[in-house]
Parts: sequence; C-alpha cells; structure tokens
Amino acid sequence: KQRLYSGMQPSADSLQIGNYIGALLQWRGMQDEYDAFFSVVDLHAITVPQDPAQLREKTRRTAAQYIAAGIEPSRSTLYVQSHVHAHAELAWILSTITGFGEAGRMTQFKDKSQKQGADATSVGLFTYPVLMAADILLYQTDVVPVGDDQKQHVELTRDLAERFNSRFGDTFTVPNPVIQSETARIYDLQEPTSKMSKSAESHAGVLWLLDEPSITAKKIMRAVTDSEGSVRYDRAAKPGVSNLLTIYSAITGRPVAEIEDEYAGRGYGDFKKGLRDVVVAEFEPVRARALELLADPAELDRVLAANADRAAEVADATLAAVYERVGLLRRG
Ligand code: TYM
Repeated sequence: KQRLYSGMQPSADSLQIGNYIGALLQWRGMQDEYDAFFSVVDLHAITVPQDPAQLREKTRRTAAQYIAAGIEPSRSTLYVQSHVHAHAELAWILSTITGFGEAGRMTQFKDKSQKQGADATSVGLFTYPVLMAADILLYQTDVVPVGDDQKQHVELTRDLAERFNSRFGDTFTVPNPVIQSETARIYDLQEPTSKMSKSAESHAGVLWLLDEPSITAKKIMRAVTDSEGSVRYDRAAKPGVSNLLTIYSAITGRPVAEIEDEYAGRGYGDFKKGLRDVVVAEFEPVRARALELLADPAELDRVLAANADRAAEVADATLAAVYERVGLLRRG
C-alpha cells in the first residue's frame, strides 16, 4: 500500500464545514486504499498565540472529530504531532537546508505576517512550512491530500526532499500532493469571496461541525445570496449561491446540475431549507459521536497514545537514518 499523510491544526473548538468537506470526507474515502497517517498538528497551532488549557482541549476535540467523521484509529494512524518527538527534531535539520528567501516566498506566511506585523509574527510562523515538511517526510509519504491553500507547502516539501537526497544520499520518498478540486473549496457564508476559516474574525458565516443544529440552520437560512433569485452555479457572478451549491453537492454526492434542476423556478428560501436539512442531517451523527468520545477523555487519550506509538516507530527510523547521513555522532 502507498502511504498517505495529512493533518489539521487544533485552532478552534470545532472544525468547520470546509475542513469537513475539503479534508475529512476525502481522508475517509482514502483510508482503505492507503496506509494513512493523520495528525492533529498542535506544534503548528502554537505558531500563533494559544491559551494553554484551551489548546489541550482543542487538540482532544479535533482528534474526536476526526474519529466521529469516520477516520478509524484501528485502520489509520491518528495521533497528536507533539507526541512524536521526531517531528521537531527533523524540522530543525530541514531548516538548515532551507533557504531564507525560499521560506520567505511562502504566500501563507506573507499574508499572515503582513496582517500581524513583523513584531507580532513569530519565527515559528516563518518556519511553519519546514515543520510541515518534516511531518510528511518522516513517514516516507507518497501522497498528501490537502486543499489548494497548502499546495505551495507541499511543493517546498518536495524540494527539500530532493535537496536532502542529492546532498546526503537517498533518504526520503518525494511526496505528491493530491490537491482537491476547486469544488472542494468552501467559502464563508457571509463573505462568499473569502475562504471559510477556523480563524475567521466573525463566526456568522462559519458552519461549525459541533454547533447545535438550530444554530447551523439559522446560519444557512441567513447566508448571503444575490438579487437574481435563480439557483444556478456561477462562481464569479453568484459567489453566495454557488458556494451553497458546492456544499449541497459535496455532502449529497449529487452533481450540481441535478440540484439546479431540482430547484429551478423555486426561490432561495426553498433551496436554503433543502440545504439546511442536508447539512443538519449530515452533522448530527458526527456531532453526537464527537461529544460521546469527549465524554470519556481517558479512553480517547489511550487511543491517541497507542497511535502515537505506531507513528513513532516509523518516524524514529527515518530520523535515525537522517542523523546518520548528516554526520551527527551517534551517542555511545
Ligand atoms: P488547516 O488546519 O488550516 O486545514 C486543514 C485542511 O482543511 C483544508 N481547508 C479547507 N478546504 C476547503 N475549504 C475550506 N474553506 C478549507 N479550510 C481549510 C486545508 O486545505 C487543509 O487540507 N498546514 C496544514 C496542516 C498540516 C499538514 C501537515 C497538512 C500540518 N502538517 C502535513 C498535510 C500534511 C493546515 O494549515 O491545515
């Protein structure tokens, strides 16, 4: 089996529907075919300030939502990044072969640091993509399924793998990104030209997996549309309606054209009610299962520990080979 790696930041109490559609649904569908590793990347989350007690809680909640959404810890390896020490260690080694300018060209860093200002931006945020490369390369990963916002980071990972291999000898598998199509990208319901994000300033347009169904329903009924009144996909002219169609289609697995036909000649009210029912029905069992898992944190922690052991076995072997190649003296 080929190996698959992906991860998500525990940056909120709940995942949002973009993470669900763009990541979890894809992961779930791939875990049979691949030897899959999924991490909750807490070391990445602390590149921006986090409250310690809340970070711990968000990390558990993120893991619970992976499982509730159908990632099976008995089949896939589902673990917390900081539980496997090799991540931070390999990130250091890789940082020594990463160009300062090369890291500075990462658009996500440029966007975030511009918003925060240079003094509020941590060096950790700058080296974030190097840690992400370490995540991927430790597991000799073949494929990395991510949204298109992460594509540049996977390309950097490939460059670093090739550079290391040519400098020190074949060590890493060079991974391929599996970029989800545009149809998997979900936008904010109130601001349908910006990507839906866990760290959005306003939550009015964010659909959280763990929200009460009545709140999810309300947010969908209040989603921004347009004055044309016809349910039709046109990303440029009708970003709001197009985004709702994308969500509808992704969750039901039905083509957009078929949904357009179903709602032809009917108003946005009807369409939104239809979408509301679809999303609420999809989220309900996931939410219930996640809350059930969170009610027994000791058991959840036990599952995560066992999976971290499995991950560490693979990661430690790669790290040992790296230390050897780089010329670090082995401890006697
Ligand atoms: P993060 O936590 O920002 O996002 C997790 C995944 O969700 C996708 N995503 C979306 N997809 C569709 N519509 C949206 N609105 C939306 N918002 C987020 C992201 O593309 C991503 O796939 N750097 C990564 C985490 C990471 C990682 C890794 C990923 C760390 N190490 C190694 C893969 C391999 C991140 O920020 O994810």
